[in-house]
Amino acid sequence: MNIDSQRQAAVDACLDKVRGEIAQDGVTRDALARVSKHLVNLASQAELFTESQFPPPSGGERSTVYRLSEDDDHSNALYVVSERSGVASPPHDHKTWAVIAGIKGEELNRLYDRLDDGSEDGKGEIKQRTEVVIQKGVGVAYMPEDIHSIHCFTEQPTVTLHLYGRAIDRQTDRIRFNTETGTTEYFTPNEIR
Ligand SMILES: [Fe+2]
Repeated sequence: MNIDSQRQAAVDACLDKVRGEIAQDGVTRDALARVSKHLVNLASQAELFTESQFPPPSGGERSTVYRLSEDDDHSNALYVVSERSGVASPPHDHKTWAVIAGIKGEELNRLYDRLDDGSEDGKGEIKQRTEVVIQKGVGVAYMPEDIHSIHCFTEQPTVTLHLYGRAIDRQTDRIRFNTETGTTEYFTPNEIR
C-alpha cells in the first residue's frame, strides 16, 4: 500500500470511530473526549503527515490547509493545518464541535468563559480561563459554544489536525469576540482556526 492509501485507510478508520462516538452519545464533552483520543492516535502517525506531503506555508502565506475528508452532508470535516510563527486568531466560537490534535510544533490555545448571557446582539464579555499547548500527543475538544483563540509562537511552522462537526466553509454563523470593547461580530471562515 502506498503512503496515500495508508493515510486514507487510517483517516477512514479514525472517522468511523468518531461517527460511532457521536452516534452513541450525541455531542457531549465525554463523547468529544473520546473523539479527541482517536484524533491524537491518528496524529501520532507522523509518517502520514510529512512536510513533503503537506507543505507548510511559504512566501507570504500565513497558513496552509489541506482537506483530508468531509462527509456528503458536510459533517466530520478533517483538515491538516500548518501555521507559521506569528499567526493568531481572535477569541471565537465555531457553532459546531471541534477537535484539534498536534502533529508537530506548538499551537497555543487560550480558552475563555463567557460572562454575559448572550441576550444582547453584538455584545459579549469573556474572560480567559486557561490555556493549553497543542503539540504531539495532545488533543483538545470544543463544544459548539466554547470560545478559544489560537497563537503560534514557535519558529517552526505547526502541523495539526483539525476536525469539525461541520465543514469550515459552512461555519458562517460563528462569532469572534473583541475583549477590549466587549463586542462580537460574525467571524468569516476565510481561514481555518
Ligand atoms: Fe477555532
